[in-house]
Amino acid sequence: MERPIGVFDSGVGGVSVLHEALRLLPNEYFLFYGDNLHAPYGPKSLEDIRRYTQGCVDFLLKRNVKALLIACNTATSAYAAQLRSTLSLPVIGMEPALKPASALRHGGQILVLATDATLHLEKFRRLMELYGKGAVPVVGSGIVELVEGGKADSPEMDAFLHDLFAPYKNTQIDAVVLGCTHYIFIKKALSRLLPGVPLVDGHEGTARQLRRVLEREGLLSGVQAGGYEFFSSGGKEYTDLMERLLRSLG
Ligand code: DGL
Repeated sequence: MERPIGVFDSGVGGVSVLHEALRLLPNEYFLFYGDNLHAPYGPKSLEDIRRYTQGCVDFLLKRNVKALLIACNTATSAYAAQLRSTLSLPVIGMEPALKPASALRHGGQILVLATDATLHLEKFRRLMELYGKGAVPVVGSGIVELVEGGKADSPEMDAFLHDLFAPYKNTQIDAVVLGCTHYIFIKKALSRLLPGVPLVDGHEGTARQLRRVLEREGLLSGVQAGGYEFFSSGGKEYTDLMERLLRSLG
């Protein structure tokens, strides 16, 4: 049996990245860990985010993973650099897809929806310097809780997003960057509120990067049939929700 790839997130959001990775790497076996007990990470202190992220990493390292995919923008911003400097296995992270979104700007604004931590850490400041012309950071506080509660596509989400975007009612929005992996699951609700506005995420790019790194390191699995297994610090209620959300992506 070849070694699995470890994927983790603060909760169920990273399932959206797993979906893309399964599509691109059908021979790989993935272990997905959601730290639902401690989600959301976004409003927490840097110290707490790092401690909880280390917990996710320890869980997966015990299961002999060959690479780590941080399916969480928040944990990547807070801790990926430290992980890369201490671990000897490949660590693949994420960042809000501001670069591809910036190409869609035609005089209006690009809203970058992400967690409080992601938008306030150094990594995002550097990204804004490079591609941030006309970009407006929007903290999505509260969205993760609704998604974790199984309400990604619900009247509660519609009402929540209506209020969150009210300040931009008279703004020309050229694109919205989904800078948190949980937000993939609110695409339907967002499109109801902002019909025709492109919603941009970096999931495919992240999965491609994972494949490139595995190839480079000679870690791609040979002929085994791929698959996945879900784990959660929050118990079965959440692994069931992960299954439902994965299926909802087709
Ligand atoms: N899904 C995560 C992200 O991509 C974190 C959400 C949270 O726990 O606040 O940022």
